[in-house]
Amino acid sequence: MDSHRHLVKGRLCATGMEGALADHVRAESFHRVTPLLESWALSQVAGIPVFLKYENVQPAGSFKIRGIGHFCQQMAMKGCRHLVCSSGGNAGIAAAYSARKLGIPVTIVLPENTSTQVVRRLEGEGAEVQLAGKVWDEANIKAQELATRDGWVNVSPFDHPLIWEGHASLVRELKESLGSPPGAVVLAVGGGGLLAGVTAGLLEVGWQHVPIVAMETRGAHSFNAALQAGRLVTLPDITSVARSLGAKRVAARTLECAKECEILSEVVEDREAVKAVQRFLDDERILVEPACGAALAAIYSGILGRLQAEGRLGPALASIVVIVCGGNNISSQQLQELKTQLGCS
Ligand SMILES: Cc1ncc(COP(=O)(O)O)c(C=O)c1O
Repeated sequence: MDSHRHLVKGRLCATGMEGALADHVRAESFHRVTPLLESWALSQVAGIPVFLKYENVQPAGSFKIRGIGHFCQQMAMKGCRHLVCSSGGNAGIAAAYSARKLGIPVTIVLPENTSTQVVRRLEGEGAEVQLAGKVWDEANIKAQELATRDGWVNVSPFDHPLIWEGHASLVRELKESLGSPPGAVVLAVGGGGLLAGVTAGLLEVGWQHVPIVAMETRGAHSFNAALQAGRLVTLPDITSVARSLGAKRVAARTLECAKECEILSEVVEDREAVKAVQRFLDDERILVEPACGAALAAIYSGILGRLQAEGRLGPALASIVVIVCGGNNISSQQLQELKTQLGCS
């Protein structure tokens, strides 16, 4: 895996900076402990208590800071001189935020259709922004090229053990808040970093029996396609509006996760994800992007109820946790445009 190569490269490029940076980078994590709150509205819809893990309040706007912050701190300790990250937006913002905290220059490579809002945010973090390709996979090729420069380290948005280790902190927080295990954890899957981190966390806290409901939108359903085929599948294109879920191929680790935990993979249409964004805004007065709408659609589109009716989830679940992964790729105007584009009433 390339990221391992860069980990090694990071080690090789270690210099006398190690000592100078060590105290700073070993200090507190960049992510915050986020609230876990029961949602009256979603509990009403689901018919069971629904707890929301509010990752949208992380400093970089999504859960990504957990894994990426951890990865960048480790690379800084190994003396990396420049970080580069390909991103649909949120991973880039997490990398740029981490790089600013660490005082390391960073280049973020984004697909050409990235919103000016995200580009501005990245520039505000002091990142150099490059636009390359139509989808994330194409931007990623450019980032990999840049990462071959001396002292540069590639930050994978989802495919590295340190990223998963960082994301696993979310499950430790769930255990701390809930005490007893929930009936299921619902999350969105792009390249599968969050899924791999939550799996690692569930194993770590002894909750490996808790099913994960892994949500994707059609047109970005590379995990569902891989599970069905029993091997990694590369989608021909990303056609979903949930651009942050747009990895044509998931990380190899995601298929291993399916052997270690019970994972129920579900695909919703873009319309359902966008309608979920609108309903969540009305119910909780919080605006999230369609990637997060995919997870919320598990409740709003009745998918949990169907899984229970099919006997794939228990009939009397104590509670459900939905990871509100957040996201910066949304504004009220973009939501309006998406609703018009998809014909949502
Ligand atoms: C808001 C949001 N949710 C979910 C995901 C999916 O995460 P992963 O790629 O780790 O599967 C992403 C990825 O960028 C994201 O930005």
